Amino acid sequence: MVSHFNQEERQREIAAFERDLERIKDGRGMLMHALHLAQNRFGYVPSDVQQIIADTLKVPLSTVYGVITFYSRFTLVPKGRCDLSICMGTACYIQGSEELLKETEETLGIKSGETSPDGNFSLSTTRCVGACSLAPVVTVNGEVHGRMTVQEMKKLLADLQQQYGSQSESDEE
Ligand code: FES
Repeated sequence: MVSHFNQEERQREIAAFERDLERIKDGRGMLMHALHLAQNRFGYVPSDVQQIIADTLKVPLSTVYGVITFYSRFTLVPKGRCDLSICMGTACYIQGSEELLKETEETLGIKSGETSPDGNFSLSTTRCVGACSLAPVVTVNGEVHGRMTVQEMKKLLADLQQQYGSQSESDEE
């Protein structure tokens, strides 16, 4: 998905974000805090915003980029309308979450950390979401689906593709 971040249209949001940064910039370990603020405000961390953070906090742009790509909670592209996340924490991993991830990637045609070109789906992995008794756990726009099997994942994905549109259908157009 190509991200078109229009600085002019988002001038007010950027100004508010810069004020937030000014407030926090002298604290320790503020890069994570700044990235949370950016992700929450813009829905992702576009390159223009990365530059603002780097300039304000006086850290290299490569460091900002490195942290964004290390943590799945930060994204370089906007999240899809349907945001899927698969827990890869220990309990979920033992119960087969890797198979769920593989099934999801194959069905949606995107990898973890990506958003489909039509903007319908985004996929990520997380660490423990605090629902280990329901392992393996998948969240859909924050809603928890527990004790998932590959079969149930197939069904869930089919339902979501009906609801949000199928990437493979749009590829055929
Ligand atoms: S490990 Fe997945 S919810 Fe705890």
